[in-house]
Amino acid sequence: MKVGIDKIGFYSPNKYIDMVDLANARNEDPNKYLIGIGQKKQAVIPNTQDVVTMAANASQKIINEDDKKSIDLIIFGTETGVDNSKSAAIYLQNLLNLNASARAFEIKQACYGATAGLQMAKEYVTNHPDKKALVIGADIARYGLNTPGEVTQGGGAISMIVSSDPSIASFDGESAFHSDDIMDFWRPLYRTEAVVDGHYSNNVYVDFFKNTWDKYNQMNGLSINDYKAITFHLPYVKMGIKGLRAVLPEASELKQEELKNEFNVSKIYSENIGNLYTGSLYLSFLSLINNSNDLKTGDRIGLFSYGSGAQGEFFSMKLERSFKNNYSIEEIDSMMNSRKKLTISEYETIFNQWLPIKNINMELDWKSDDAEFFLKELKDNQRIYDHK
Ligand code: HMG
Repeated sequence: MKVGIDKIGFYSPNKYIDMVDLANARNEDPNKYLIGIGQKKQAVIPNTQDVVTMAANASQKIINEDDKKSIDLIIFGTETGVDNSKSAAIYLQNLLNLNASARAFEIKQACYGATAGLQMAKEYVTNHPDKKALVIGADIARYGLNTPGEVTQGGGAISMIVSSDPSIASFDGESAFHSDDIMDFWRPLYRTEAVVDGHYSNNVYVDFFKNTWDKYNQMNGLSINDYKAITFHLPYVKMGIKGLRAVLPEASELKQEELKNEFNVSKIYSENIGNLYTGSLYLSFLSLINNSNDLKTGDRIGLFSYGSGAQGEFFSMKLERSFKNNYSIEEIDSMMNSRKKLTISEYETIFNQWLPIKNINMELDWKSDDAEFFLKELKDNQRIYDHK
């Protein structure tokens, strides 16, 4: 029996900044951001959107009434949680009117959360083939104004339905993992922005990729020639290029060209959105299947998931019969193309409107948010969500 991803939804808010504008404002050479980092645009997240609303906006595009009846597992991967106790999954379940006879909970391990959720969902659906699981990866990447990490911010949500007989991709082989106690990136409870040792984090990422890549191929009797494409967690596009370069020498020249070409389409969404943290790998995967003209059913795609702190996992999936979904392609293109470009000063204002970590009653400017689901107000220590 095949188990895998049946549907993928994506949402990111309708505002962005251009990396050339950011470079100019920070007195950097624009080519550092465009080529050295590999980013073109960055999503800007207003305070009427958080991981709950972004997950709801991503999920409502893919969940139909049949799905609602069969989803009885909701796993929410995030490192931008809205409460230290109550999970974002419960809020989401309520906003989407999902089945009350479901397990709903949140998991965290930096950018690895959605992968942990996906693998748990795989085990669950394997044991309950008539059921489906909803797996979310939603985050807002914040490093701070005028920091080296600023060019690698972003945000949005990926929503995936895992089922038996999936239409997009099925799991293939046993995953390889690696974890170690590493201080490359973390966010203490009192901070709204991450603390990061950027250059060290780049090195650890590549080490974890090589480690899990070698292990996976050895365990499953595979080599680089068996992959049509390799997709990466993309905190910024150049990071994925560094990962790919670490294994390209294992391939023939022809294969190297093919893998580079497929990587170039897998990065299209990320270079225009920025880091999604835990949803990022799946945004690369979605970009690949939506934008490549060279894929076919049965192709093996490698996926490298990395969450600072640190956990790495490499696994692969095989494309299934309806992996190409024209509706999703048009919808994402239209979402990206209809975004409003902000000046750097407008972005800085929105960045500084991030909600404080204290009890405050306030109504937010939800009327200027065009999303279906939004955060309306903070009241009596509660977040009040609403929808159009
Ligand atoms: P930086 O120190 O400002 O940049 O920060 P740099 O000086 O290292 O330059 C970056 C690249 O631009 C270099 O290329 C330069 O040569 C090049 P590289 O050596 O890397 O190949 N460059 C130019 N290229 C063309 N024209 C020019 C030019 N000037 C320079 N004129 C850094 C960069 C990524 C460290 C910073 O942005 C940062 O700290 N970002 C956040 C951390 C991060 O994303 N780490 C990635 C791995 S960890 C991870 O993926 C987990 C994470 O997603 C979190 C989670 O798990 O939750 C972050």
